[in-house]
Amino acid sequence: MKINDNYSRIKSSYLFTEIAKRVSEFSLKHPGKEIIRLGIGDVTRPLVPAVIDAMQKATLEMGSAATFRGYGEEQGYEFLRAAIAAYYGKKNVDLGLDEIFVSDGAKSDIGNILDLFDNDNIVLITDPVYPVYVDTNIMSGRKIRYLRADESNDFLPLPDGKKADIIYLCSPNNPTGAAYTAEQLKVWVDYATDCGAVILFDAAYESFVSGSLPTSIYQIEGAKKCAIEFCSLSKTAGFTGTRCGYTVVPKELVFEGAGLNSMWLRRQTTKFNGVAYVVQRGAEAVFSAAGQEQVRKDIEYYKENASIISEALKRGGIKHWGGVNSPYIWLKCPGKMTSWEYFDFLLEGPNIVGTPGSGFGENGEGYFRLTAFNTKEKTQQAMERLLSCAKAT
Ligand code: MLT
Repeated sequence: MKINDNYSRIKSSYLFTEIAKRVSEFSLKHPGKEIIRLGIGDVTRPLVPAVIDAMQKATLEMGSAATFRGYGEEQGYEFLRAAIAAYYGKKNVDLGLDEIFVSDGAKSDIGNILDLFDNDNIVLITDPVYPVYVDTNIMSGRKIRYLRADESNDFLPLPDGKKADIIYLCSPNNPTGAAYTAEQLKVWVDYATDCGAVILFDAAYESFVSGSLPTSIYQIEGAKKCAIEFCSLSKTAGFTGTRCGYTVVPKELVFEGAGLNSMWLRRQTTKFNGVAYVVQRGAEAVFSAAGQEQVRKDIEYYKENASIISEALKRGGIKHWGGVNSPYIWLKCPGKMTSWEYFDFLLEGPNIVGTPGSGFGENGEGYFRLTAFNTKEKTQQAMERLLSCAKAT
């Protein structure tokens, strides 16, 4: 038996697994220290009442022979796909129900979608980036070309004119929090169309967008012919533990005579058995009027945390970006520290956990990511500690 040797080409552990390991080692050595976690983008607000009500009702249905459900509809229940389509309708994006695929989250689909593409493709990934795009391509042996996202382009790189086949974009961006304008996304859509590339658009943070910036790539003319969009209820509605997301694969996506929509349907019906009925009922409730009002409050809560972080960094003279259209604040490590040096500094001094920028790629070195997903009290406390440590150094 020969193993997939590509695994030897990726880091031995996933970024957030490595961080969790280092934090637990620190806690074992210093049991009295109270650590504040602003590292992995995991939510702290509980599921909203509309979701809980819907899930409770669905649970009772599952306990009665008359309403029990076994295997669900393969692309996700129609009631949920209709709710998602209506949500897109409000963004002036018209989707067919058969273009929406319910999943257990954006991360899985972002990795799984690669089943549709040959290994001999040029993959273009902006750097720094969510490590899943990179790792999943290396696991299957693809070569990656990186596009530098840095202060000179406001962390929003545009095409460099060189050929690409598979292009990853994430807006609002993880980790930098930067969000593309419609004009910038149009440049990407035109470029992908010109070179016959597919854009894999990660919209997991769309609900954090303020103002008139696009929240879906399909708000850009021509995108249905070149883009697949991934979205998730993890950050929008606190589903990190509950697990539900969706992927949009428009029927207009045709490459070498093959429709990506029917290929993805074929892939999913073979390898995936859907999301639990109870969870899908909870997800449907997110899109109800009451659900939307309730989740908006939680998003505002996190955005308030983001401004607390941003204000504190300003006071501490720490250069930073993001936090406006995103739950992530991207900062320049003070005192020319490397990303991991700053990680240790924050863990050992103010006992704060963040995410080293270099974990998101070469261009993340010297930067650091903080999340707004903790409670307001902990966020405030973390910033007080950070500022007093900054003064002491
Ligand atoms: C992150 O912290 O970057 C995210 O939580 C990762 C994810 O959504 O999988």
